[in-house]
Amino acid sequence: MDMKQVVALVTGGASGLGEATIRRIINDGGKAMILDLAVERGEKLAAELGGRALFHKTDVCSTESVQEALEHAVKEFGFVNLVVNCAGIGVAEKVIGKKGPHSLDSFSKTIQINLIGSFNIIRLTAEYLVKNEPNAGSERGVIISTASVAAYEGQIGQAAYSASKGGIVGMTLPIAREMATHGIRVMTIAPGLFETPMFDSLPEEARKSLGAMTPFPSRLGYPEEFALLVKSIVENPMLNGTTIRLDGAIRMQPR
Ligand SMILES: NC(=O)c1ccc[n+]([C@@H]2O[C@H](COP(=O)([O-])OP(=O)(O)OC[C@H]3O[C@@H](n4cnc5c(N)ncnc54)[C@H](O)[C@@H]3O)[C@@H](O)[C@H]2O)c1
Repeated sequence: MDMKQVVALVTGGASGLGEATIRRIINDGGKAMILDLAVERGEKLAAELGGRALFHKTDVCSTESVQEALEHAVKEFGFVNLVVNCAGIGVAEKVIGKKGPHSLDSFSKTIQINLIGSFNIIRLTAEYLVKNEPNAGSERGVIISTASVAAYEGQIGQAAYSASKGGIVGMTLPIAREMATHGIRVMTIAPGLFETPMFDSLPEEARKSLGAMTPFPSRLGYPEEFALLVKSIVENPMLNGTTIRLDGAIRMQPR
């Protein structure tokens, strides 16, 4: 699919990897709806980028909220042909912590936002994508989700986060197989460590030492590098049904 033809929904689009994806799409001539809970950041970004980027306050876990965002996008742009799931939360909690066992609420919340939220977006947007006119390559759309290398090498304290990301990796192929008859590709990106507001609270030294854990390039990834992979997936019709690690060869240690 040509980036100029892209009309995207990007969840978590007001920050970090999602924001970089929005910027890439607009820069390459496409249009995009920013879906996020963060109203101030989302509206500011949309205002900066002009009419081809719009913001809709959305909770990815709510059917009603996602449907409203979809209707808003279709009303403004006519259709949607790219969906990028970037909304997510990070949690660190041990199974047996100092205050007792892992909270079941925080485990559920992580699965709810990261995994079920991503699936909610996929199931509701797929209904719209299948109605698109196919392009010359018979494509009707592309769906990209964001997992993490923690899906494969979760650290101590990442039981909930790893489970949520492992679920995203696991559902990629069955959904791609189902969507194949509609000309819709389904992919997942598993990032290593990227320099996003997730790391803002860490001091410079801690960020450097995290970056140094990546063999090469030995630094935190830039969000634009994530957006470049989104672009490659959009443009390359043979990429389908798999998860691509984007991690500078990092393999996270137990702690
Ligand atoms: N930064 C990294 O190193 C890294 C590594 C691996 C995976 N990831 C994953 O990439 C994705 C993006 O991470 P990021 O680093 O850009 O984080 P970020 O915190 O900068 O952005 C996440 C965005 O998601 C939004 N969000 C959270 N819950 C939401 C909900 N229920 N509905 C709508 N929006 C919601 C937040 O408001 C925020 O704007 C996440 O899924 C994260 O797990 C990040």
